[in-house]
Amino acid sequence: MSLKKKPQRIDEILFNQGFGTRRECAGLIEVGLVRVGGATVSDPGETFMADGLGIEVEGRPWVCHDLALVLLHKPAGYECSQKPSAWPSVMLLLPAALRRRGLQPVGRLDQDTTGLLLLTDDGGLIHRFTSPKKQVPKVYEISTDRPVDARQVEQLLFGVMLDDEPMPVRAEGCEITGTHALRLTLVQGKYHQVKRMVAAVGNHVTALHRSSFGKLVLPTDLAPGQWAWVEGPQAITG
Ligand code: URA
Repeated sequence: MSLKKKPQRIDEILFNQGFGTRRECAGLIEVGLVRVGGATVSDPGETFMADGLGIEVEGRPWVCHDLALVLLHKPAGYECSQKPSAWPSVMLLLPAALRRRGLQPVGRLDQDTTGLLLLTDDGGLIHRFTSPKKQVPKVYEISTDRPVDARQVEQLLFGVMLDDEPMPVRAEGCEITGTHALRLTLVQGKYHQVKRMVAAVGNHVTALHRSSFGKLVLPTDLAPGQWAWVEGPQAITG
């Protein structure tokens, strides 16, 4: 993460925040479309502390963040891939300024999975949050085709064999939340892991929702398709 602690030129701030090329950012200032603290900025060389700065660009408010770390309430029907094959990309749910900053999802959720998806422009953080060594817990709310029972829970906690995995894969936590519902906590992020684990105990996932990632819980007031800033990695790992 590059923490830019010194005051920066406003044209540089706009560029770093993803508002266009350097030329486009200078142009926005020239035509009076950039305001800081309610006042129009006319000098592209005027300096400000970027992180936390409230600006307005073309009438739209924006709070500058040195680190782009956001959470998205992923709806069903979107792919996490940058170049999706069958469904639109989750990137389309983010403002253009964030897309230009080259955000990447922290791990992936399936097209039909809903819930908390983290995205960041910091490759080191992606590694830190997805590395098996770090054991960051992720909580999934699962609906199933067949009734759930104590035997399935025991097996999921004990460990199940998955194709291509040499060792049993176990859930860190598992509880029954309804006749056809489970809450599963995983510390790994293997391909289709929840669906494959539930299939391995003789059931079938009909709906999957991620409710938390590390310490971060999906806010109840964040509707599907909406996003929010995460104020630093400590909100996730403590
Ligand atoms: N496990 C799955 O099977 N799918 C997801 O989207 C996430 C975890």
